[in-house]
Amino acid sequence: MDPDTLDDAARHKMTIGTILPRPIAWTTTQNQAGVVNVAPFSYFMGCHSYLPALALSVGSRRDVPGMPKDTAANILSTGEFVVNLVDEALAEAMNQSAAAFPPDVGEAEAVGIELAPSVKVDVARVAASPISIECRLLHSLTLGEAPLASTLIVGRIVMWHVRADLLDPAYRIDQAAVQPIARMGGPNYVHARDPWTMAIPDWRDVVDRGPSDADTSDT
Ligand SMILES: Cc1cc2nc3c(=O)[nH]c(=O)nc-3n(C[C@H](O)[C@H](O)[C@H](O)COP(=O)(O)O)c2cc1C
Repeated sequence: MDPDTLDDAARHKMTIGTILPRPIAWTTTQNQAGVVNVAPFSYFMGCHSYLPALALSVGSRRDVPGMPKDTAANILSTGEFVVNLVDEALAEAMNQSAAAFPPDVGEAEAVGIELAPSVKVDVARVAASPISIECRLLHSLTLGEAPLASTLIVGRIVMWHVRADLLDPAYRIDQAAVQPIARMGGPNYVHARDPWTMAIPDWRDVVDRGPSDADTSDT
């Protein structure tokens, strides 16, 4: 399907319906008055292991065309944010925080989301989140044009908070115990409950196996 033949609504549906599943960055920011904003973003990815860094993309407000959502405005103004992972227990609160609250209403207070202090950034994190990632703004890039512009935010990770039972001394996360949820197309979600293992092979093992099969079928 060629996006050039589709209207904006269909492009949006195709984009969120074809990139699956997407992890959720439940993002805390604050404005200059100190109002704490919490909102989920599934255009979210890790993007550098060694800086280290992550990226999320924040669209524009629907109610005030051309205005960035509060999360992007706050990150651009303070240079700080925290990405909090969402487990099954936090799903309902995460969803409520996605409602279009006005900028002066903090979702944390309105939804009843308990916050905990961060270490290296001023903005708080979600206390009950299994993993929280403190970030400082590294790059921002405007994608598209008003009124449908998005802000791609790249943040340098400056601190990880991992619930004590989830991390072993070799920096391995107990992934099944995190119980993260992920976004699918539309208002749909999946549970990531059954991690399984598949190690990347040595290329020589792949080559040894591949051609021998092919050779047999040729003769
Ligand atoms: C699971 C989920 C994922 C979302 N992902 C995005 C996203 O990637 N980008 C975006 O602009 N909005 C996304 N939204 C919508 C925002 O969360 C919503 O517009 C929110 O009100 C923005 O809040 P803010 O204005 O306080 O930043 C998502 C909503 C949900 C429920």
